Amino acid sequence: MQVGVPKEKSPEQRVAIVPETVSQILKSGLAVHIESGAGENAHIQDHHYQQAGAKIESNIETLYQQSDIILKVNRPLLNNSNEYPELDLLKENSILIAPLAPLKNLDLIAKLNTKKITAFSLDYLPRIARAQSMDILSSMSNIAGYKSVILAANHLGKLFPMMTTAAGTILPAKVIVIGAGVAGLQAIATARRLGGVVLAFDTRPAAAEQVKSLGAEFVSLETTHEQSQDQGGYAKEQSIEFYAKEQEIIQNYLPEADVVITTALIPNKTAPVLITESMVKKMKPGSVIVDLAIEQGGNCVLSEEGKIVTKHSITLIGLLNLPSTLPVHASQLYAKNMLSFLKYIIPQIKGNQFDQSDEIIKSCLITHQGEMIHSGVKHAMEQKG
Ligand code: NAI
Repeated sequence: MQVGVPKEKSPEQRVAIVPETVSQILKSGLAVHIESGAGENAHIQDHHYQQAGAKIESNIETLYQQSDIILKVNRPLLNNSNEYPELDLLKENSILIAPLAPLKNLDLIAKLNTKKITAFSLDYLPRIARAQSMDILSSMSNIAGYKSVILAANHLGKLFPMMTTAAGTILPAKVIVIGAGVAGLQAIATARRLGGVVLAFDTRPAAAEQVKSLGAEFVSLETTHEQSQDQGGYAKEQSIEFYAKEQEIIQNYLPEADVVITTALIPNKTAPVLITESMVKKMKPGSVIVDLAIEQGGNCVLSEEGKIVTKHSITLIGLLNLPSTLPVHASQLYAKNMLSFLKYIIPQIKGNQFDQSDEIIKSCLITHQGEMIHSGVKHAMEQKG
């Protein structure tokens, strides 16, 4: 069987497979074809892939036609004419492995199903120990958390660390992190490494210990474990009253902050608004907010998707897809996650039968042999009509 890796569409800089993982896929008995130039933004040349045993294909149509399994960083995207050119290239009955955000892209899922594509959505992998090595969400959130602090430091007209110099003492930057999941914890760790003083909020009391272990202060939102998180460890949605109270608590700390990183998310919901315009107005001029929740609507009402804007003398960073701005390491980690997943399903690929009682398969297999498999996505599709 042939694995195909196309070049991602601009502005994506990452690639789904790196040379180190090619050799391991070959050992599993699969052949690997890479589109010429697929790795160039991650500084991987065609000859690096060739040395690892992959074949380079310069014709994208041939690549798709030869491939039984397509590995991607992004789902097939719509073009300006409302068409999916990459989807059109996919061979009937082939396997697509990528993060598909199925509930937001029901139209794409329906089209994949019509083409009898076996679609695995890696963003639906369960957050269980067994699936940790495949967990692209954690790998990419980790990178986004790091980059959010680097961006903030770049836009802040101040130093992060405390400095005692002959010309006077510089006080350390004060950083607030809202949401201490994977991205938030990496933001805390990065801000601490730069010398910032960090304070963090999370609705999950379970996050307190992790925050403190990184040398930051945790501010409790007075929730219990049961109120705050589901069985998968994800935050539960709270009431409007709760968010209003949370805004009041956060408001007390914002006037002191130099940098605020927001990462608060609820799976498959719009991000909660935790910073209002009046709260921004009370911040110190020149402070920076990085809104990592922007793809889900944002935690700050003033941040704008894909942009860096200044409002009320505060810089608001709402850039998307931060992992793509660090394509070398992002591709390396993504490829390792992809390899783990591929190895997991390889024994089942050959018979084209997948064990749907298995938690990993059940969670991320969306369509197979012309059938909608994933119950949540199937339900959403039926509701949509
Ligand atoms: P996420 O990206 O969905 O959310 C980010 C953070 O925002 C979470 O910590 C959440 O509690 C917090 N949050 C939500 N609403 C908030 C609010 N109103 N105020 C303040 N904070 C708020 O979550 P992420 O980072 O993907 O992971 C969350 C949890 O999932 C982890 O802490 C862990 O328990 C679990 N997990 C388990 C893994 C495994 O076992 N393999 C891997 C990764 C995560």
